[in-house]
Amino acid sequence: MNEARPQSLASFWMPFTNNRDFKASPRLLVSAEGVYYKDVDGNQILDGTAGLWCVPCGHRQPRIVAAVSEMVGQLDFAPTFQMGHPAAFDLAEKLMEYTNHRFGHVFYTNSGSEAVDTALKIALAYHKARGEASRTRLIGRERAYHGVGFGGISVGGIAGNRKPYGTLLPGVDHLPHTHNLEKNAYSRGEPEYGAHLADELERIVALHDASTIAAVIVEPVAGSTGVLVPPKGYLKRLRELCTKHGILLIFDEVITGFGRLTTPFATDYFDVEPDMMTTAKGLTNGTIPMGAVFSKKFIHDAFMDGPAGIELFHGYTYTGHPVACAASLATLEVFKEQKLLDHAKEIQPYWEDAVHSLQGLPHVIDIRTIGLVAGIELAPRPGAPGARAYAAFKKAFADGLLIRTTGDIIALSPPLTFEKKHIDELFGKLGKVLKDLD
Ligand SMILES: Cc1ncc(COP(=O)(O)O)c(C=O)c1O
Repeated sequence: MNEARPQSLASFWMPFTNNRDFKASPRLLVSAEGVYYKDVDGNQILDGTAGLWCVPCGHRQPRIVAAVSEMVGQLDFAPTFQMGHPAAFDLAEKLMEYTNHRFGHVFYTNSGSEAVDTALKIALAYHKARGEASRTRLIGRERAYHGVGFGGISVGGIAGNRKPYGTLLPGVDHLPHTHNLEKNAYSRGEPEYGAHLADELERIVALHDASTIAAVIVEPVAGSTGVLVPPKGYLKRLRELCTKHGILLIFDEVITGFGRLTTPFATDYFDVEPDMMTTAKGLTNGTIPMGAVFSKKFIHDAFMDGPAGIELFHGYTYTGHPVACAASLATLEVFKEQKLLDHAKEIQPYWEDAVHSLQGLPHVIDIRTIGLVAGIELAPRPGAPGARAYAAFKKAFADGLLIRTTGDIIALSPPLTFEKKHIDELFGKLGKVLKDLD
């Protein structure tokens, strides 16, 4: 095993990173097992974020590692354009089973960003295929994160991810976000206030006319902008309005999919059904990159009822990569055999109480929880937004704890294999970090 330091940090242009700051004092991970990373100095780092929300089954899960090794030794690559391999089909059937057959079909991508762009393209092509080519507008939401493709940043609602990149996609509008600390601070589960914000879709429809709108895309729980939990009734209302106006509803479940809320998907948790669902991350336990778009049967049918020939001009070289399929098949087995969702449900109340026990610590202005997710919002330092939480992130890492921060919000999302002792360790360390933070 190579645990040596890299000879130079210069050439890797790191993503979503303060490169200069990192390279001045790097944080380097060299191995992982279960719910811990090990850094290059040999320190154990408790993983409070399941990597980047993507390792629900814990690290180096033996079954997944074995499945990946076996497949790479058998079929390293196989195209899925005009041909296929068994694992891609087997996985699709298993995924349909995993959604209780509420979706009819799945399209594979290599990431969440690609899943989002794929879903948006399918929405446009679907309306065209059924003779409503005027439906070209896409509606996102403020403070949404839908990855980094041009489609995703256009429907996304994070200024920093949008402003350097020109005019983005045309014909995009945004719903307001639902975050409201005055009304909803310190919520457990869905907050009370804000279902009416879904009605803003009526305003957008009145402005543009439903005949021009293809799809609405939302994260059921917005993760990357700091754990924004939907108000009670909000998603149901959005569903009703989309149905009323013939607009497709897409749930971006890249974070919420695969157990994050203690249910298979957020659609199960909220009992609201989208027409398409984008996923990635936990789909393969983060072991091999993969994304997937789940689609209702009626959408797929619209293409299959069209002229003979290739029905959808879209796909990636690595769509349905055999090694990713093997990782995902093994991930689904681990979920089932280890009853991971039952375990997550069991520890959720303990998790929730532990997070909320931080209320009253210096700078904490809100705590919100749902499933095995938590957002801890800090008051920003005057004139330096994000600096306080970033300082907490660096201090936590130095103390052996991985947390994630976005702006001045700490977002936590541990592997579902976390046990009470890990929760105690996490909040023991984080509480200390917060107490000492200026
Ligand atoms: C809701 C959501 N959509 C899309 C993405 C993009 O996924 P990826 O980074 O795999 O492209 C993310 C990543 O965090 C996400 O949280």
